[in-house]
Amino acid sequence: MHHDQWRMPDWTEAEEFIRLFHSEHPNQPVPLSMRLRQVREHLETYGTYRHTRAELDFGARVAWRNSSRCIGRLYWQSLRVIDRRNAVTPDDIHANLCDHLRMATNDGRVRPMISIFAPATPYRAAPLVWNSQLVRYAGYRAEDGTAIGDRGQTGFTETVRRLGWQSPGGWFDILPLVIQTHGDKPQLYDVPRELVLEVPLSHPDFPGFARLGLRWYAVPAISNMRLSIGGVDYPLAPFNGWYMGTEIGARNLVDPDRYDLLPVVARLLGLDTSSESTLWRDRALVETNIAVLHSFEAAGVKITDHHTESRRFLTHLAREREQGRIVPADWSWIVPPVSGGITPVFHRYYDEAELRPNFHLDEDARERSTGGCPVDH
Ligand code: ARG
Repeated sequence: MHHDQWRMPDWTEAEEFIRLFHSEHPNQPVPLSMRLRQVREHLETYGTYRHTRAELDFGARVAWRNSSRCIGRLYWQSLRVIDRRNAVTPDDIHANLCDHLRMATNDGRVRPMISIFAPATPYRAAPLVWNSQLVRYAGYRAEDGTAIGDRGQTGFTETVRRLGWQSPGGWFDILPLVIQTHGDKPQLYDVPRELVLEVPLSHPDFPGFARLGLRWYAVPAISNMRLSIGGVDYPLAPFNGWYMGTEIGARNLVDPDRYDLLPVVARLLGLDTSSESTLWRDRALVETNIAVLHSFEAAGVKITDHHTESRRFLTHLAREREQGRIVPADWSWIVPPVSGGITPVFHRYYDEAELRPNFHLDEDARERSTGGCPVDH
């Protein structure tokens, strides 16, 4: 489905959202019945309607609250919402994306934040960023078939090379942003180096770990998901939280189709890899995760571990229950990829409802961000 193209907001969805907003925020200056009439009139006259600032804030926060794959939802109310609906040119959008990174990074005290750009309208396509995140490392396939960098980004790296990017060919090259506005050709923009906070990885007990030269960036800012509020689509609404260590230490650096580093770490640690039953993979995995948490903490960059975050999620469930709300959750995403069974989130099932507002990864957005490859991470 091509959601960056115009889709008329559905009145039922609009009404449902406006009612939800008023039920959680009573005593609005414009009463519910009047606002509903306004929205309906706008829909009938213009084919769309414009969210108020308060509706936009609420809609974005509830989209996070409803994100069933996210374990970090306890702080959904504190999401900072930046209204960028007036940014039009690729230059403006690039400047706003840079501001997002600067404000979200906050010198390492990472803040959950979303920048919401213009929705699609009948007259103008919404702006788009092709990248899956504002910061990503390039991936290359060498002639002999070996991989350099993030294998999850080889397709997208090919795309930006075709668009004219001069690739350095290293292990941690920050990809340029691809920004596309109304019917124009996509434009390449570098992310200014000084805006990308990165952490060099070291291990508290194994000095050799630092010599591997590994690093990761501080702010995961998803840029290819469509925010959908009350029937209005915002295809460009990059958002970020802070990292949970396992995302880096158990997936990004470890998955065979990403950095695939377990054999490298095992060699460094001198583990016996001659048989699976030595559990060398598990040992290398835990040490890698210790290195990630240790390094971020040493660098003063906000990060969380999976035990703490699991407990917080249970607090979130309890709080939401008190409010009479269900918490839709996807077990296979909520349970951390290491030590699942020793975190409390493992030992139960979750409500699988799909609630609105929400974030969606559309097929065409996924293809743009993977260079058409069938899988992304
Ligand atoms: N798992 C993704 C990554 O490793 C980031 C997803 C969002 N994560 C977050 N902590 N807000 O880059």
